[in-house]
Amino acid sequence: MKKIVGLTTLVVGLLAFTACGGGNTASSDSGSAPASEAGNQLEEIQEAGVIKVATSADFAPFEFHAMIDGKDTIVGADIDMMNAIGEELGVEVEFVDMEFNAILAALDQGQVDIAVSGISATEERKQSFDFTQNYFLPEQKVVVHIDNLEAYQEIADLEGKKVGAQKGSIQEMIVADQLPDSQIVSIPKVPNLVVELKQGSIDALVLESAVADSYVGQNDDVAIAEVLLETSEDEAYAIALPKGSVELEEALNNALQQLIDSGQIEEFVQENTDLANENASN
Ligand code: ARG
Repeated sequence: MKKIVGLTTLVVGLLAFTACGGGNTASSDSGSAPASEAGNQLEEIQEAGVIKVATSADFAPFEFHAMIDGKDTIVGADIDMMNAIGEELGVEVEFVDMEFNAILAALDQGQVDIAVSGISATEERKQSFDFTQNYFLPEQKVVVHIDNLEAYQEIADLEGKKVGAQKGSIQEMIVADQLPDSQIVSIPKVPNLVVELKQGSIDALVLESAVADSYVGQNDDVAIAEVLLETSEDEAYAIALPKGSVELEEALNNALQQLIDSGQIEEFVQENTDLANENASN
């Protein structure tokens, strides 16, 4: 581990986690109904025996690629959470990895059943999609090169500077609203944003707390700046569904509630933060 991020290592559940980490299933030709003809989506999924989940595996500790037993595997807190939900619903979980920017369109077009990707359930997105209850409330953080920690302490210090945000994410809006005098640089994948920051082609990067902690833990030369950004309830993570999937939403909410009540979501976040650190130092 390159840097301690202040989280307890939880070994419990790691074995079970590794075993189901990939979430790979045999491919199914069941497809998914477009939102407009959703019907009872829960029944359809249970008949097919598989739920197709869009994710963007570039977002440790929620979804990322790691070498597990020498094999490139999609792992993360969202993956563990979704596998637990799949078990509860009695279906296999098939993750479909894509750029974050493409996820909501894939859901809209019925290419997947739901989307789980640290997605903030904003009022704007709620106009087009339904969301489960929230399962994680992040804070917005500014990440900088460690050499610039002193230089970038408040919003005014970032005036005229290049600030990165993931393409299609709410961080684009956060930069526009809260750092209006900075120059936004949108890039599709979070690890690439971190590389740009390390190389100095951008000056700062807006990331959500657990994700910022994870990439700071994986990279010695970046750190969380003191710059304070506002955070709102609107930014909490939830599972996205097509409009009108009432039964499915209820089933997901029930399964989620159990994971929240038992503290498992938090455990998943801690375990996967550790896993990302270990993987980075390999
Ligand atoms: N929470 C932010 C949003 O919904 C960022 C999510 C990015 N997720 C990812 N897997 N890259 O816009």
